[in-house]
Amino acid sequence: MRTELSFTPLATIATELLAVLAADTQTEKGPDAKPKPTLLTADPAVQAAAANVLATGEYKGGANETILLHAPAGLAAKRLLIVGVGKLAKATVHSVRDAAGTAVRYAKPRGIREVALALPSFESLRGAAVARAAVEGAFVGDFDADTYRSDRKDQSIQTFTLAVAGTLTVADDAGRAAVEAAFAEGVIVGESQNFARSLVNEPGNKLTPTILGQRAALMAQEVGLGWEVHSTEKLHELKMGAFWSVSQGSAEPPALIVLRYEPAGVTDGPVLGLVGKGITFDTGGISIKPADNMEQMKYDMAGGAAMIGAMRAIALLKPKVRVIAVVCAAENMPSGTAQKPGDVQTAMPIAPDKPGKTIEIINTDAEGRLVLADGLTYARQLGATHLIDAATLTGAISVALGKITAGAFSNDDAAYDKFESALAISGEKFWRLPLGDAYADLIKSDIGDIKNTGGRWGGAIIAAEFLHVFAEDTPWIHLDIAGMAWVEEKRPFIAKGPSGIGVRSILEWVRSF
Ligand code: BES
Ligand code: MN
Ligand code: ZN
Repeated sequence: MRTELSFTPLATIATELLAVLAADTQTEKGPDAKPKPTLLTADPAVQAAAANVLATGEYKGGANETILLHAPAGLAAKRLLIVGVGKLAKATVHSVRDAAGTAVRYAKPRGIREVALALPSFESLRGAAVARAAVEGAFVGDFDADTYRSDRKDQSIQTFTLAVAGTLTVADDAGRAAVEAAFAEGVIVGESQNFARSLVNEPGNKLTPTILGQRAALMAQEVGLGWEVHSTEKLHELKMGAFWSVSQGSAEPPALIVLRYEPAGVTDGPVLGLVGKGITFDTGGISIKPADNMEQMKYDMAGGAAMIGAMRAIALLKPKVRVIAVVCAAENMPSGTAQKPGDVQTAMPIAPDKPGKTIEIINTDAEGRLVLADGLTYARQLGATHLIDAATLTGAISVALGKITAGAFSNDDAAYDKFESALAISGEKFWRLPLGDAYADLIKSDIGDIKNTGGRWGGAIIAAEFLHVFAEDTPWIHLDIAGMAWVEEKRPFIAKGPSGIGVRSILEWVRSF
């Protein structure tokens, strides 16, 4: 998708489709309070073109509600699409992100290849942050998962234009320079999120750990990140017994993917460690999963993909902080060489002269925490002062939070505060759940240090406590995205398929240092 900023008056933009936003400005409540759809674009030509349809009452300005006008009088555009953001009082920059996605997804199946979106001129919904969100939303909307359909028509939007005429002020956040910079950022962020989504979308046979490593390396070369991709030998050398135990049952070798962002001149301060679960397919191993829905387990590398996508954005946006990503990629398979319940594995030691922690394997399907255990230790050994991990770790997180909100955990309030601020920018929904010794007690093992599962209740928290054993006192955030990595029902602004959750929030967390 090509993107451009336009400063010309809306009426003169000759495009296939001009999208403008509307909100419901009704503030009264009660049965007589009819919706009051109001355009968020002050441009008189657009106002005139939309006046009749808004007066009919058939359009309410609800969130992502659309209505289309052909050959709108007085406009050079062939079509005018009105997209709602819902109640004005509740509308935010995130509503605009979604509305932009809705405009793009409206156009795609109708053979419309050009979309221009008018940045709202409404006081509280204009300026840099809104411009950025709008471009991001357009990229989110442009993604479809049908990569391998042989009759796939390429429906991608060719040109997305953000029209800002009439919204700019002389300076500040709505100044031209600020909006231009935010627009450029939105392109990078949107492309990076879609890059992560394209990885998550790949089936297990097309994206093995080795291929994930190649894709990450190719991206790293393109954007100028340092990178290394290791395999079996290095896992043995580093004594990554937990990571290796997952991959030992597969014919596909594991990949230990390391991406480094080292900005020039930054030699001290924090080193942020991004650790991702990269299970390219999770059968459950010997504790094999039921056949129903097992095909979904191709997206069990979504945490790793989020880190790879975030690193792409970091490389291009160049924050002044060092970042190192560690993605532990493996395939969890049952076979004659697979690990068994009851096996005891020794995790990577934090230093060569220290013993690694021993793990009793109760369930080979609790494999994500095993690869992350060694990933977290390795990131710390490479100098990470702060850690964040992302993983499709537990089904239990969906039981707790549904498929509406992702889970977050942290051993450090200061690090987590930064993450909360990042969420305000990203618009992604995470909710912090507790950690605690009483949960940690549930994974004490009789034969070794810890076991990899701890009973039925509080499964997402127990998994987090397992990781906590390896993060120790290093400030650490754990993101359980199992319920959010895949969009199960299409929405007006996003296709069914990989969501790319995490990329934006992790990026903003990094930028907050
Ligand atoms: N990859 C799964 C978790 C998952 C489930 C991700 C559904 C996405 C959708 C993970 O490896 C797993 O199997 N977890 C087990 C843990 C259990 C054995 C303690 C689970 O959640 O059932
Ligand atoms: Mn599993
Ligand atoms: Zn898994």
